[in-house]
Amino acid sequence: MLQETLKERSAFAHQQLEKIVVAKLKSIRSQKDYVELLKQFYTYFNRLEHAIEPFITDEILPDRAERRHSGFLAKDIISLGGTTDDIPVPKVPEINNPVQALGALYVMEGSIMGGPIIVQMLKKYGITTGTSFFSGYGSETPIKWACFMESLNKNIMASAQQEVIETAVDTFDRFAFVLNNH
Ligand code: HEM
Repeated sequence: MLQETLKERSAFAHQQLEKIVVAKLKSIRSQKDYVELLKQFYTYFNRLEHAIEPFITDEILPDRAERRHSGFLAKDIISLGGTTDDIPVPKVPEINNPVQALGALYVMEGSIMGGPIIVQMLKKYGITTGTSFFSGYGSETPIKWACFMESLNKNIMASAQQEVIETAVDTFDRFAFVLNNH
């Protein structure tokens, strides 16, 4: 099934990215450091959302308007006294069709799964506010994930599996690059 293949084939890229995010979290010493990390997430997620936007229609993902988006990051940044004005424009994967858009969205939606761990880690470093993005859908997460995967399975034909996997891996790798270069 696509779900298992996608998870298996992108596992290494996920692991690499996770290591970078964990290292960044561990180096947080102040609220200002946390805002810097939020800004790195914002720059990438916001740009990627714009890239996939033309392809993720209501028909493909009926509840797309209710899903988490980079606006949560902007809200968190501003609530902590930061700004999104001075954000660089990162390179995101090239998105030219709904298959590639779903591959990128798989990475963004899946990142909600690590959210509770990130929120716990932040607590350890004294950060308890400005965490709406990482809090994701809370107890609704499993149902939202199942619903997203259903849409992915419905919209990706067997012949397009390779393309969705490649875009997902590219989405992980480019985010790792962005985080490593800030
Ligand atoms: C501290 C950093 C992170 C931790 C600890 C973490 C942890 C996890 C965990 C525990 C899962 C659930 C695995 C399972 O149920 O089998 C998961 C899934 C996932 N994470 Fe992360 N994650 C982190 C960062 C990220 C980031 C930054 C992204 C993407 C931007 C991401 C993308 C994904 C995806 C796509 C999945 C779904 C895999 C699947 O079931 O197909 N994660 N993560």
